[in-house]
Formats: sequence, C-alpha cells, structure tokens
Amino acid sequence: MDKTIIPFWEETYLKDDVMTFSIEPNKTIKEFEHLLKKQSNILEVGCGEGQNVLYLAKQGYCNIDAFDISESGISKLKRLCEKDSLYINAFVHDLVTYTFDKKYDWIMSFATLCFVEKSAWKQFLLRAKENTNAGGIHIMHIFTDTVPASPDIAPFAIGLAKDGELKEMYNDWEILQFQSYTFEDEHPNVPKHMHAVNKIVAQKP
Ligand SMILES: C[S@@+](CC[C@H](N)C(=O)[O-])C[C@H]1O[C@@H](n2cnc3c(N)ncnc32)[C@H](O)[C@@H]1O
Repeated sequence: MDKTIIPFWEETYLKDDVMTFSIEPNKTIKEFEHLLKKQSNILEVGCGEGQNVLYLAKQGYCNIDAFDISESGISKLKRLCEKDSLYINAFVHDLVTYTFDKKYDWIMSFATLCFVEKSAWKQFLLRAKENTNAGGIHIMHIFTDTVPASPDIAPFAIGLAKDGELKEMYNDWEILQFQSYTFEDEHPNVPKHMHAVNKIVAQKP
C-alpha cells in the first residue's frame, strides 16, 4: 500500500463514536454462521475496526483472531472490545508476511485483499487454504476491476482481481456461494462511489 497517502479509514479509526464501514456485520457471515461452532477457530484478515468480529464475539464465539495492518484500526477494535467486555485476539500484521501458527475453521476477509499485489493475495490464500481444517470455511470478498477503482481507494488498490479470478483459487473446494456484483458505497466524508466485487464462500473437503 502507498504509505505516502493516508487512506480515509485511518481518520475514522481514531474515533469511537463513528463506524467507518458499518455497524452491522457483513450479511454473508449471518447467512453461513450456522456452520460455526462456539469453539471454532476464527480468523479475520484486514478486520479494520472490527464490525464482523465484534458481532461474532457478541454471539459467544470465543476463539477469534483478527489482524489488520492499521495500528489505529486494531487499537479501536481493542477499545471497543474493552467497552463491551469482549475478548478478541486482535493484532497488527501485514497479510503479505503473515505466517500461520495454527489451523482455522473459518477464515474471512472483506474488502482488503486488493490492497496488496495480486501475487501476494494469491500466495496468502494458498497459505490460508493449507491452514484450514477439513470442513472449514473461507469467506473471501475482493474488489475487482470490472469498474475502475473509485477515487477513495484508487491509490491503494494495487491488486484488483479480474472477475472470476478469486473463484479459480477454490477449484479444489466446494463452492457454497459465489457472487459477482457492483454496488454503490458511501463512508463518512467520502462521496458516493461504485465498487465491483467478487465474493466467495467455499468449504474445504
Ligand atoms: C476497506 S477497509 C475494510 C475493513 C474491514 N475488512 C471491513 O470490511 O470493515 C480495508 C482494510 O484493509 C487493511 N489492510 C490493507 N492492507 C493490508 C495488509 N497488507 N494487511 C492487513 N490489512 C491490510 C486496511 O488497514 C483496512 O483496515
């Protein structure tokens, strides 16, 4: 990621009274949550301020790891956990250099992978697949180049996927859901803009 320009989310990660992306978890999490057990090992990659993992922690899932490259995002997530007496193992890390020290039942990432080079997110997914238990689930969401990167992310979106490229990474897993779509988005202090997305839910045989 270009370190000379500060992404818009860094500003709102400093404020606890505003959520940058949503106060709700991504709807795919609720849709597939029935596949989780309370003891499942869960990992979110690029968790930001944490709306997805906060939701899961509130439901009683107790083995949640979450990392993000943003120190302010992880600090905010820790403050929000403390406020609600929740425990999430949240830490700062770069997905490019992340190495696994355990196996997971559920690994998810939303709107993050495109911020590293394509070869890096592909390598990361290979490591993540390897470090997933049999029957485990991946929910991966990546911006694609079906529409040009919007101005809010253009300086950082160095690894936009081609439509279908994410799905190809899961040829050897069962695809429970694959969606390719565009949507209009808006964040505090960022004008409305369009994103194109590929989202996959896949299960390891
Ligand atoms: C658009 S935000 C999405 C945040 C979160 N996934 C969500 O949906 O609310 C992108 C996030 O990816 C994180 N990120 C960017 N590059 C990263 C990297 N190399 N490793 C880990 N996280 C990264 C950013 O810090 C930011 O929190």
